[in-house]
Amino acid sequence: MNIEKRGFWSWFLQRITALLLVMGMSVHFFTFHFSPSRYASRYYDEIINRFCSPGWITFHLCLLALVVFHGLNGLWGIFVDFNLSKRANCIFKQVLWFAGIILFGVGIYILIWFATKEGSV
Ligand code: HEM
Repeated sequence: MNIEKRGFWSWFLQRITALLLVMGMSVHFFTFHFSPSRYASRYYDEIINRFCSPGWITFHLCLLALVVFHGLNGLWGIFVDFNLSKRANCIFKQVLWFAGIILFGVGIYILIWFATKEGSV
């Protein structure tokens, strides 16, 4: 366990985000992939309308933030195990934050673009 190397909050939040991902991804799959009407012709419209409502957009933005943080924080945990210099760790952490902000930004853009194009928001 590399809690000393990666820092308490990084270690702790990796577990919290994992737990929230299990719950969030379950809600996502059961609401958007296993709808009772999935074989009906209205299925696409039904899913799109649900997906584009403000509440579900907020939900998916939170899920996106969780998965981006969890994935990149996981990479941070792996990186510190290589025992490189403090400077290398510092640079890598900044690269991860930068990548995270870009990925989250692209995700927000696509979600909003999709909702305004397909939905009624
Ligand atoms: C429900 C989904 C998920 C659960 C329950 C989960 C759970 C976990 C847990 C408990 C850890 C900590 C392992 C440790 O430190 O010993 C971990 C690490 C990690 N997770 Fe996830 N994870 C999920 C999804 C994801 C996704 C979607 C990604 C990629 C985007 C991801 C990437 C990583 C990475 C890179 C690590 C670090 C692996 C390591 O330390 O060797 N995880 N995950």
